[in-house]
Amino acid sequence: MDPQLARSLRIDPARIPEHVAMVMDGNGRWATQRGLKRTDGHAAGEEALFDAVEGALDLGLGWLTVYAFSTENWRRPADEVRFLMQFNESILVRRRDELHERGVRMRFIGRRDWRVPRRLLRRMDESIELTRHNKGMTFTIAFNYGGRAEIVDAIQRIINDRVPADKVNEKLIRKYLYDPEMPDPELMVRTSGEYRISNYLLWELAYAELVFTETLWPDFRREHLFDAVREFQSRTRRFGGLSDAAPPEATSRRR
Ligand code: IPE
Ligand code: IPE
Ligand code: MG
Repeated sequence: MDPQLARSLRIDPARIPEHVAMVMDGNGRWATQRGLKRTDGHAAGEEALFDAVEGALDLGLGWLTVYAFSTENWRRPADEVRFLMQFNESILVRRRDELHERGVRMRFIGRRDWRVPRRLLRRMDESIELTRHNKGMTFTIAFNYGGRAEIVDAIQRIINDRVPADKVNEKLIRKYLYDPEMPDPELMVRTSGEYRISNYLLWELAYAELVFTETLWPDFRREHLFDAVREFQSRTRRFGGLSDAAPPEATSRRR
């Protein structure tokens, strides 16, 4: 991170979280408050997302992960779901080149099941391929993602691979998650004044610092991300130990 920018933001460049996860919530309420359709709120969320991405690049984050569609969001009215599928596809088509130019590496986590339109899956694959060799920030979109589904999928693959029970440990489970390379987020930010996880990154968030803001997602800007990082830097992380202990290694536990 640029030292001058860090100073002006009162952010300690030596303690920037490596991975920030965000729950982009409140689009529907933002729209309703303005007498608009819920889907207009999703559309307005695009500007928020790309401003937050710029902020993440300013901070020099290694990883940024956003929750775009949960395994529970299929419960919404069919036309909202259809909008979200088309909207996410169009975002990828319209924005991937600029992300690529900024050196961002794109990834996706979630279930690639029959409900996700093939065209969207194709755009995801194209975006991954396009940005595969980029060395900048990894930007992961959690789409048709559920933390429980991720753990179920991991267990199924562990069993399919005939891994003996005594070889199953935290390190092994991590290898079977959707993106084995993804480090655990140190900071999770959720907008819209909802104080819950909603099935996001259940395994990965074990020791994350949680920051909640009342701001509705379409009003979110990079300054809110900076606020969250300042809040993060004011916390004492203990990981079960005393004072600023190091995070525990995901090591095997002998019986
Ligand atoms: C978050 O905004 C976007 C998605 C879940 C896709 P919401 O659509 O949940 O907005 P609220 O929470 O109803 O206001
Ligand atoms: C979480 O928000 C999922 C996404 C932001 C994609 P929701 O709006 O779906 O969560 P709940 O229903 O308030 O728990
Ligand atoms: Mg919501």
